[in-house]
Amino acid sequence: MRINQYIASAGVCSRRKADELIEEGRVKVNGSVLDVMGYHVQEEDVVEVDGARIEPVTKKVYYLLNKPAGYVTSTADKEGRPLVTELVPDSVRVFPVGRLDLNTTGLIILTNDGELSNKLMHPSGEFSKKYLVRAAGIVTRKEAERLERGVDIGGFVTSPAEVHLIKHDRNSTLAEIVIHEGKNRQVRRMFEAIGHPVQELCRTGLGDLVIGKLALGQCRKLSPAEIEYLKRV
Ligand code: URA
Repeated sequence: MRINQYIASAGVCSRRKADELIEEGRVKVNGSVLDVMGYHVQEEDVVEVDGARIEPVTKKVYYLLNKPAGYVTSTADKEGRPLVTELVPDSVRVFPVGRLDLNTTGLIILTNDGELSNKLMHPSGEFSKKYLVRAAGIVTRKEAERLERGVDIGGFVTSPAEVHLIKHDRNSTLAEIVIHEGKNRQVRRMFEAIGHPVQELCRTGLGDLVIGKLALGQCRKLSPAEIEYLKRV
């Protein structure tokens, strides 16, 4: 495997970024700084980036988790809060693809496939993301249309979205929203922008993948067809 692909598949960074690391002299093979861009890594090679050994990923695993509220979408947390990775029953170490806020529930992919993760997170190929939202107050069709056209969420105007108002009671509205980008806290900021703060948020879909009947806190392996789909899109 070429050195840049090796580094990317270990989840360190993208292939392009790996090339930069090599150019900057931050990659060592068997203790020596690498100066050959197209180097092919051999089985017995020890590869280091910034002094840390890179472990080759052998078995690739792909999970879809229904994240409960209160879990951090990360592999470590300074405050010691529960991690989404703790909900994956595999001895292989995985990491989450993208982020959900602490109190957002729903669909998150966990994998050890760094290359796929880099690809999915690249802004150019944003997958559609579907969310079920409970927002404060009664959201009118006119307000939903503002969300659909795009709203200013603080220095950024969101791109077109689809909003389906499902039902409401006196205090809150249940809606479904599909967005095609992934700014930090985007859905919460969009509903804040129209004056209806989010009370509950659940991601139910990512591209063609759906959370389905998976219970909160449960995960399942992606099917070969789902993995193929993610790699193809
Ligand atoms: N949008 C948000 O506001 N929060 C999330 O966790 C995901 C999308």
